[in-house]
Amino acid sequence: MAPAMSYKVDLSHLERDGGGSLTQQLVDRFAGAIEAGELAPGEKLPPTRALAAAASINHLTAARVYRRLAEEGYVTASVGRGTFVRSLAPAAAEERGDDWQAYVLPDRPSTYQEEMLSDAFRLPGEEGMISLATGFPSQRFHPAQEMADLSAQVFADEGGAALSYLPAPGLPALREGLADLGRRRGFATDAAEIIVTSGAQQAIDLTARALLGPRDVVAVESPTFTGSLLALRATGARVIGIPVDEDGLDVEALEQALARHEVRLCALQTTCQNPTGVDLSPERRLRLAELAVERNLFVMEDGAYSDLRFEGERPCPLRQAAPGHVIYVSSLSKVVGGGLRIGWIAARGPVHERLAMLKQSADFHTPTLVQHMAARYLDGDAYDRQLAKGLPYYRERRDALMAALERHLAGEYDAAVPRGGHHVWVTLRRPAEERTLYSEAVRNGVSFTPGGAVCAERRKRTSLRLSFSLVEPDELEEGVRRLARALREVRRRDRTATAAPLS
Ligand SMILES: Cc1ncc(COP(=O)(O)O)c(C=O)c1O
Repeated sequence: MAPAMSYKVDLSHLERDGGGSLTQQLVDRFAGAIEAGELAPGEKLPPTRALAAAASINHLTAARVYRRLAEEGYVTASVGRGTFVRSLAPAAAEERGDDWQAYVLPDRPSTYQEEMLSDAFRLPGEEGMISLATGFPSQRFHPAQEMADLSAQVFADEGGAALSYLPAPGLPALREGLADLGRRRGFATDAAEIIVTSGAQQAIDLTARALLGPRDVVAVESPTFTGSLLALRATGARVIGIPVDEDGLDVEALEQALARHEVRLCALQTTCQNPTGVDLSPERRLRLAELAVERNLFVMEDGAYSDLRFEGERPCPLRQAAPGHVIYVSSLSKVVGGGLRIGWIAARGPVHERLAMLKQSADFHTPTLVQHMAARYLDGDAYDRQLAKGLPYYRERRDALMAALERHLAGEYDAAVPRGGHHVWVTLRRPAEERTLYSEAVRNGVSFTPGGAVCAERRKRTSLRLSFSLVEPDELEEGVRRLARALREVRRRDRTATAAPLS
């Protein structure tokens, strides 16, 4: 008999002849011990073999006991870890706090990318920290008064309708407004193509879920935006990184991937790419559109930063060349404000229907009030005025960051001047251990987005995404100075470690 168990659950005097099934008797005893708090939430039960030996039953009966306890909600089984008590005895609940959740939640540790994304939202608020990790638009430019006036107007004109439900694809007036922007920019021609989403992130997530499942393959530009990587990975699909150079996604590398894998979706930003700030060249655009049509390949074109361009002509979206194959996603976040959560998808055909259904099951629709406000905001020149106000501000910060890099890190890095957006992609000429550099930088009072958090695969080179949109020019200077200090410290430690004699 296993003593470890006998003190918790009485396994003696089981009725072996005619006294009800052994399984049920054991289930009752375990359930009784759990309800009485003798077996605590989270406590590990003995392996089935130990139970079998202790209760003198066969192994299959022991397994059946645990299975039934799991079905009745008393225990939870975790492959490779064992069986744990699940239900919380009422008397013990307060003392034990929320520890039980760790045993009930499915096993899913957070990923490096998720941790970096949540750091990006958290660190800007920390005292003394200069955050080069976030590409949010500056609050200074949010059109707060205009939005306050618009919301008052919406309530005055719409009354209770401003708080009513809507069809999943969105408010007709907003879909019209976005189609109008789409005609001017080239990403859509008709309001019927538009589905209003809660930010571009939801548009990406819905697209990923509409197209991908666990055995599918998706090709994604790498580096890219962390939120895209997270949404694509969450589908369980295999994510293949395609390199990005000064002409955007390497379409030849994509062709090689298409020859090796049955790729269902290619995800990229064609303009002012986050994090590199580059555009997809016209030749590559053409070839990618041809490939999509030739190979029946879906393309997700993310235009989140496409309007935030500091110089050069705005290229036509890829969707114009292959509107049935390209699903265009974007939002008002980078120009007007991320907290508005107004994004959209432009797509047509059966995938549009599927996306609308997924939107409905995700959250029914994007909030009615903000859809009304956005429709009115787009119906006039407010958006263009907003953009005109923001561009010089961001350009000045981009230039300040590039200058600071030259002052403090000359000879150490390569970085293309971004044509637009909020970020500079910096690659160190000599690699450094990314996590060590990140921790050292945070210790020195500056944060950034480590390259590994935005890449689909492990890279030998060390890259950093530095975002300039939220930071004043003098703070950008100080941030880069701190970063250079952190890098020197990491290099110094590397040298010391290399020089240390082997013991
Ligand atoms: C390239 C890119 N796409 C999509 C998004 C998500 O935008 P939204 O805030 O509209 O969800 C972001 C946000 O940073 C982004 O950088």
